[in-house]
Amino acid sequence: MPKRQFASDNHAPIVREVIEQILRANTNHAPAYGEDQITRNAKLEIARFLGRGNGDTDNIQFVPTGTGANVLCLSSFCQTWEAVLCHELSHMNTDECAAPELTGHLKLLPLTGDFGKIDLNHAASIMNRVHGIHGVKPTVISVTQVTELGTVYSLEELAAIRDFADEHNLKLHIDGARLFNALITLGIDAPTFIKHIRPDALSLGGTKIGGMICEAAYLFDYPQENELIPEYLRKQMAQLVSKGRFISAQWLGLLRDDVALRYAAKANAMAELLENKIAEADVRILQKREANSLFVELWPDEAETLLEKGWLFYNFLEPRQYRLMTSWDTEESDIDEFIEDIKPITAARTI
Ligand SMILES: Cc1ncc(COP(=O)(O)O)c(C=O)c1O
Repeated sequence: MPKRQFASDNHAPIVREVIEQILRANTNHAPAYGEDQITRNAKLEIARFLGRGNGDTDNIQFVPTGTGANVLCLSSFCQTWEAVLCHELSHMNTDECAAPELTGHLKLLPLTGDFGKIDLNHAASIMNRVHGIHGVKPTVISVTQVTELGTVYSLEELAAIRDFADEHNLKLHIDGARLFNALITLGIDAPTFIKHIRPDALSLGGTKIGGMICEAAYLFDYPQENELIPEYLRKQMAQLVSKGRFISAQWLGLLRDDVALRYAAKANAMAELLENKIAEADVRILQKREANSLFVELWPDEAETLLEKGWLFYNFLEPRQYRLMTSWDTEESDIDEFIEDIKPITAARTI
């Protein structure tokens, strides 16, 4: 079986910088449940990374899963009769097993849109249908950056969604499970991104870019009088980790010296290389590649042959659409090995 795969960045190991911070945290006793100094330092580090000074009015909760970060962000704004507009292909709508509904006690309102991006015309038509207490009340609009189809919203597209949110009095949530990859694609730093888009909540993902169990729910300018709401919710959702310092220490490893950004740049560059080399091997690219995932066309029997050779990757949404994803540790030699196995397959095609 090949050492490294193209199935998901979740398949990749943990980066050395994170392991080092976990080891450094592994001395003496420290207060549990996030009351420790490492957790305080990690919060400051995230606030600094996002350009929030010391983040005084922000609310940051470390959680073990991205689903937890999403549900915590959304339910911090939603009452049980409120709802979240999101793309129909969004992770929260397709891959979170109704956690937003069941543990967040809110309703998702899925929207259409090309390239995995929300169509604001559809969002507007949903808002036009709001009719008092008989239907749910949309309170949040959520966008995924990078999207589930590997595309990246431009700053202009996000600014239009921000304007829409303001116009309709909605909070804006960003599912940033792969935000580091998106920042590399956009060529901007996190403070510029945040200043431009002014999100109300961000699920910041550290796991996919090299953390172990490393996610955060970041609530911007969250009302001080409500600051305990996300904390209680996190506990109720079983997302409060007792030895919290080992979750937060990971963020020191990812954020200091731009470690996560550098690995995101590497993953994106490897996806670009894979795109170029696979196109030369006569494989059709089905979606515009903008970050670290590539959607390609393969016939199921061709995919089967590759799987039998030990490669792992997923079929995605359409019968012949397969997702190939690079990670922080993908090497050019992995790509060459994969291409060598693909070439005889495409060469044998009769149509
Ligand atoms: C867009 C997106 N959001 C959130 C998540 C986090 O999910 P999990 O709960 O598996 O950590 C993922 C994981 O694949 C994702 O792709």
